[in-house]
Amino acid sequence: MRPLTILGIETSCDETAAAVLRLDDAGPHVLSDIVLGQAAHHAPYKGVVPEIAARAHVEGLDGVIAAAMADAGLGFADLDGVAATAGPGLIGGVMVGLMAGKAIALAHDKPLIAVNHLEGHALSPRLAPGGATFPYLLLLVSGGHCQFIAVMDVGVYRRLGSTIDDALGEAFDKLAKLLYLGFPGGPLVEKVAKNGDPTRFALPRPLSGREGCDFSFAGLKTACAREVERLGALTEQDKADLCASFQAAVLDILADRTLNAMRAFDPVWGAKGRLVAAGGVAANQAIRAKLEALAGERGYDFIAPPLRWCTDNAAMIALAGAERMRLGFSDELSFPARPRWPLDEDAARLRPSHKPGRKGAKA
Ligand code: KG4
Ligand code: ZN
Repeated sequence: MRPLTILGIETSCDETAAAVLRLDDAGPHVLSDIVLGQAAHHAPYKGVVPEIAARAHVEGLDGVIAAAMADAGLGFADLDGVAATAGPGLIGGVMVGLMAGKAIALAHDKPLIAVNHLEGHALSPRLAPGGATFPYLLLLVSGGHCQFIAVMDVGVYRRLGSTIDDALGEAFDKLAKLLYLGFPGGPLVEKVAKNGDPTRFALPRPLSGREGCDFSFAGLKTACAREVERLGALTEQDKADLCASFQAAVLDILADRTLNAMRAFDPVWGAKGRLVAAGGVAANQAIRAKLEALAGERGYDFIAPPLRWCTDNAAMIALAGAERMRLGFSDELSFPARPRWPLDEDAARLRPSHKPGRKGAKA
């Protein structure tokens, strides 16, 4: 194949990111990979504020794109295409990145590839040398998403299950907020949990033991809130025990659901299966260890992308764009920014709980 050099742009949540990637017969080569985080902007509010995110993307994106091009040692004329996240995500931010991508594509007469952010995460395990080969079972767990996807090939995704309420990262963030740990909450809960007793609080494991591989975390969050209310003033040990008990419940829930997802996915395999974890929560070491053990028990290989490609980044968007371009796809400059955009539109149509609507974005 002719090598394709693609600029990727990612602005769907709270990372302003740009990357240049070359895709050739040997696979993807990340030539540059810049991520400007916004945690400091959102920390005072203990969560991502959409308006502040959109404004920070506007302020940061030009510099981030310029840095990505400079790092790659390329000019816009050297590109074969421009890939930008067109959804799902916070609409203000998505519009900023998509408009920037359209402007570069128009000014330099390059094709635009409008990328589904979830496709970026789905393909991210292929960024590293020797990364995952198709097909694989993907557990995508981030602040906005929580789902199992059978990744069969580029553009061929089947959603096996997803959350019916909160995303897992959101549950971590909400617990951190409840305990005044800071933002983003996931890494802080993980750290505090290390000093805690995971058996002290008997927290629920919603949907565990039930058929299917959907998730629910709202009940777990509420149970934590009740314990906090009951305890009144919290000691450091109380906080550590609650974080440890929460994480133990999360591990049990993930184990139960992942086993069901592997069972559903087994028929796809002639031989050995592959379980891949991606998204920000996949940075959690306890979760990685649990998934690795589960995969081993069932004869699956376990693969997790390097940490910097687990969280939001533009290298994965550039890869999704390059793969789509290789298949002959590009998009009109009129392509809309989409706040909701299920990766597997068929699954969304068939499953009433996953219809577009209040629950759609996380599902
Ligand atoms: O993929 P990501 O960067 O952005 C989204 O698309 O949401 O994921 C961010 C989420 C946040 O909710 C954050 O608290 C969570 O991932 N997270 C973690 C850890 N590191 C990040 N959750 C649990 N343990 C961690 N170590
Ligand atoms: Zn993401």
